[in-house]
Amino acid sequence: VIKCLRDYIDDQGFVEVETPILTKSTPEGARDYLVPYRLKPGLFYALPQSPQIYKQLLMLARLDRYYQVARCFRDEDGRADRQPEFTQFDMEMSFIEPEDIQGVVEGAYQHLFHEVMNMDIQLPLPRMTWRDAMARYGSDKPDTRFGMEINDVSDTVRGCGFAVFENALADGQIVCAITAKGAGKLSRKELDALGEFVKTYHVKGLAWAVPGEDGSLRSSFAKAMQGDSMQRLLTQMDCQPGDAMFLIADKKLVALTALGQLRLRLGKELGLIDRSQYNLLWITEFPLVSWDEEDQRFVAEHHPFTAVMDEDVTLMETDPGSVRAKSYDLVMNGIEMGSGSIRIHQSELQAKMFQLIGFSQEEAQEKFGFLLEAFQYGTPPHGGFAFGIDRLVMILSGADSLRDVLAFPKIQNGTCLM
Ligand code: AMO
Repeated sequence: VIKCLRDYIDDQGFVEVETPILTKSTPEGARDYLVPYRLKPGLFYALPQSPQIYKQLLMLARLDRYYQVARCFRDEDGRADRQPEFTQFDMEMSFIEPEDIQGVVEGAYQHLFHEVMNMDIQLPLPRMTWRDAMARYGSDKPDTRFGMEINDVSDTVRGCGFAVFENALADGQIVCAITAKGAGKLSRKELDALGEFVKTYHVKGLAWAVPGEDGSLRSSFAKAMQGDSMQRLLTQMDCQPGDAMFLIADKKLVALTALGQLRLRLGKELGLIDRSQYNLLWITEFPLVSWDEEDQRFVAEHHPFTAVMDEDVTLMETDPGSVRAKSYDLVMNGIEMGSGSIRIHQSELQAKMFQLIGFSQEEAQEKFGFLLEAFQYGTPPHGGFAFGIDRLVMILSGADSLRDVLAFPKIQNGTCLM
């Protein structure tokens, strides 16, 4: 896989540059691994979470097209698709728009699929905004190998009589629903288990309705529904006898996320996923920042160097939560394969971004002073992308865990068996 990507990218005029492993802390959002510096007790190097800052400095130094097969280190909780150390195919380009870098990445993927899988993928890849992905799939990395899309049914259930829905709407929340075709055979016990499952995603509960062949209706909330409101819901959701409909009322993103997870679980359990398919798509226009309840401040959604969509710059002061970034993720079969963005290249905007995520001027200077200073010598507009090689190999070989494709992986709790 790596050889194939290298061959492709070399032909595109990219220069391979290695950057240090003993570095200054990088802001990718995980915890750093630290290495003590023997000569100055109390001082540490951080291992790179990514070569992000180095590749930006290379752009400032006028290297036009950079790439690297980069080892990255992140101290975060383990998951099937996460290892404490992993490898990125990392790149950066100057004087570009998102389409330019996406074009290179797509070309590399097409070449890779052709060489390694003997498969042709059609370009350009489909694109979906983050907002649409959340509304339709309840996820920023939608698995589009099956349907069962989410619908907002708030307008349909307004005034329906069921207090849970009505109170949620009165609080400015939403009611959303999915229909699982052929799930009508689920027993009461199985339906209750699904209710417990969604609660792990911080919603209060799951409403369900299962119309029978004989015109009967099993449901957790039908009794409370007045007039023809239940019928209107079933019609809107195309829920036929033999199907099951699931609804969640909560804060918008919380409800969508929980229903998105339920969709994935049902997709797997009902056997709706075609494992021979590789569904690639771009997710674009991510939020620039999100609100961190614990720290009571905004945090960068991608990293603090991500550029703002031109039409949203003024919102940074009035409504930061709704500002969209010039960032993009490549998603395959429900897994984030890679991500990137156009970077901020003006020091005033960079300072504004640091301010927004709660860095004082001194802190920004202390952490990234070298970058802010470099900006002042004239910065080419630039942007880039990095994709996870380990995840790519995992998916292409049909494995469900990185541990199946890595030599000497760390085990679940992050320890090394040796
Ligand atoms: P990001 O943090 O999204 O972006 O990482 C890029 C890609 O690396 C892979 N990845 C991982 N793979 C295995 N184990 C992990 N713990 C792990 N963490 C991430 C994923 C992910 O999409 N500097 C930016 C890129 C840029 O803006 O150019 C970055 O590192 O496939």
